[in-house]
Amino acid sequence: MFDRLDSLPPDAIMALMQQCKADTRTDKVDLGVGVYKDAAGTVPIMRAVKTAEEIIFGEEKTKTYVGTTGRVGFRETMLELVLGTDHPVLGSGRIASSQAAGGSGALRLGAQLVQAAAPDATVWVSTPTWANHIPLIGSTGLKLQNYPYYNRDTLGVDFDDMLAHLDANAKPGDLVLLHGCCHNPTGADLSHAEWDRLVPFMNERGLVPFIDLAYLGLGRGIEDDGYGLRLVVRDCAESLFTVSASKNYGLYKERVGLLAVVCNNPDEAVVIQSRLGAIQRTLISMPPDHGAQIVERILGNGDLKRMWMDELTEMRERINGLRQLLSEALNVQGGEAIARAVVAQNGMFSMLPVTKDQAIRLREDHAIYMTNSGRINIAGANASNIPGVADALLSVLS
Ligand code: LMR
Repeated sequence: MFDRLDSLPPDAIMALMQQCKADTRTDKVDLGVGVYKDAAGTVPIMRAVKTAEEIIFGEEKTKTYVGTTGRVGFRETMLELVLGTDHPVLGSGRIASSQAAGGSGALRLGAQLVQAAAPDATVWVSTPTWANHIPLIGSTGLKLQNYPYYNRDTLGVDFDDMLAHLDANAKPGDLVLLHGCCHNPTGADLSHAEWDRLVPFMNERGLVPFIDLAYLGLGRGIEDDGYGLRLVVRDCAESLFTVSASKNYGLYKERVGLLAVVCNNPDEAVVIQSRLGAIQRTLISMPPDHGAQIVERILGNGDLKRMWMDELTEMRERINGLRQLLSEALNVQGGEAIARAVVAQNGMFSMLPVTKDQAIRLREDHAIYMTNSGRINIAGANASNIPGVADALLSVLS
């Protein structure tokens, strides 16, 4: 039977990662896959993570199953972190939640729940969005459509177009997938004022927010980065959000994520909680535990939490410092607009106005790896290679 199947092209980001790994040029610059690298170019294990792991190693007494929706302590501490301990919806009983296999697992779980509740709903995604959003959500059978978001000429968000498009095309009960912060792949985020306009707009049109929060703390800080999500949860009767611990805890391969579903009332949340367990059981039975245990330990221990926050601040400041350096290096004739965009954008990514051919030339001629769409992971650069990156970029653009 397997001879009936053809091979599929590899996922573009994963293929780029492999291609860069295989490149033997010593001056290569990997701005491809979205992982945080330190100044030495390594993807570090955070000190708070290592310390928590050591404690767990000493204290853990069993590897028995936890359950289909994972650790209660992980879910509670993550919700407190993301929403803030004084959030009005936190103690309301309206939130159902589940631990998941990474942010991706959480997205899939959420989409599967939506598919069960509203199979005719369309999920609206930004143009562009993280490439894997489409197969992750689309493989549940839900329809996806695009709304305008990033303007490749201005290198900013086309907010009025976004609202106008949703106004004209989305129907009540549709979902709008939003990036909580540090938009992947563009780095162009909604401002607080835009979130303030978006939330009442969605409520008036009966649209349900579905927020993917994968980079909390890596843009401008936890409070700032969580602004839109906190507002949505406060003001919308129903919403969903996913949180990843891959980037801000550096727990990529441990697959740690959370799905939260904000329901109209506590009774509904009880039903949805049971649904989340049942859906997860059909997908992966139970989420992996190790990484979630680490996060729970960190967030539940004042010293470890402070250590983690300090490290997160270091990471964010390094990324923002690199943005500043790249912007300065590009701020020459022909590069001014990109220079301005690079410092205005948030998180690991920026989307540069390069064509696919130019991205390939950068890879082949200059050993600079970025996706064919022009997405760069700033956290993959360092102070010594930034001038070369800027020169190469300007040369392919001229
Ligand atoms: C990325 O966007 O590069 C990361 O989120 C890694 C991935 O899974 O695509």
